[in-house]
Amino acid sequence: MFGVFVSLLAPVAPGQSLIERGEYVLRAGGCAVCHTDLDNDGVYLAGGRAFNTPFGTFFSPNITPDPSHGIGAWSLADFSKAVTRGEGPEGLHYYPVFPYTSYSGMRTEDIQALFTYLRSVKPVPQADKLHDLPWYLQFRFVNRVWKYLFFEPNEPPIDMSEPVRRGAYLVTVLMHCGECHTPRNLFGVLDDELFLAGAKDGPDGDAVPNITPDRKTGIGRWSRTTLIRYLTKGMEPDGDFAGGVMVDVIDESLRHLSGSDIEAIVDYLKSIPPVPNQIAGP
Ligand code: HEC
Ligand code: HEC
Repeated sequence: MFGVFVSLLAPVAPGQSLIERGEYVLRAGGCAVCHTDLDNDGVYLAGGRAFNTPFGTFFSPNITPDPSHGIGAWSLADFSKAVTRGEGPEGLHYYPVFPYTSYSGMRTEDIQALFTYLRSVKPVPQADKLHDLPWYLQFRFVNRVWKYLFFEPNEPPIDMSEPVRRGAYLVTVLMHCGECHTPRNLFGVLDDELFLAGAKDGPDGDAVPNITPDRKTGIGRWSRTTLIRYLTKGMEPDGDFAGGVMVDVIDESLRHLSGSDIEAIVDYLKSIPPVPNQIAGP
């Protein structure tokens, strides 16, 4: 089974070290965007970015290798359990604002590369901020219940040929595009039927467009070139520029991917079934 995943991303280029590979995975995964408080000149990966959600305000933790404030004392197994099962070293359960639900399909090799890279960055002795949540969500036990009810490890579709399969891995696992582009129910669970078909109130309450190939309500009319221009430069077909949180996704992740990975993402997006779902006005 694992053998199938080995060739999903472009192979480690000759001379590319595990650390460089890990940095690439971190870029694709958008880890730094969430774990750096960019708005307040926060230190790289030291956490503290606020996420205002309908459930309360969450703050990202420090993931630098500082042994007491970051994850410096963690083993690879601890790290893997956190990223793919949403469970901390002492058995505490994370809130799904940390998209481990998508990352649960991450390849072992990528987790290892990511961990090696994270060990190499500067340790920062900065304490985590406490989440600001209503009392009934403050007990991490609720996450355990949530997982029991809703969490199924994400298995990226593999019954497709290259490069669509690589695109599927990037979109559904590493780059977790569905976490924003899919609507959620009252419990914060993604609606599978409307996967990538857009959400009326995504992060920060913004509308998130339908990116399935539906011609009327999605991006079915965008050519390959248009889509590539958007994903790498943020330019929309009408000459406007991307806004909202998509700017971070483009600047911090997409723009840094190899041309062949961008092509793979486009191949995958063009291959999925169109799902009509009107998000904003015409
Ligand atoms: C959408 C924002 C977001 C993204 C993207 C994200 N994280 Fe996080 N992460 C969080 C939040 C918020 C928490 C805290 C969850 C909690 O307290 O339950 C967290 C928790 C963690 C933890 C647990 C740290 C601890 O001290 O217990 C680790 C490790 C982690 N993230 C690593 C990563 C890695 C590696 C990536 C990229 C592959 C990543 N995160 C991407 C928001 C994010
Ligand atoms: C953090 C949330 C978030 C993530 C993750 C995200 N997006 Fe977006 N995306 C948005 C928002 C918000 C917009 C609307 C931007 C605007 O208002 O200009 C958008 C817009 C787009 C558009 C333009 C569609 C249109 O009709 O204008 C495309 C294409 C797109 N995203 C593709 C992707 C892909 C591919 C990924 C994964 C690699 C991704 N997005 C990940 C939030 C996100």
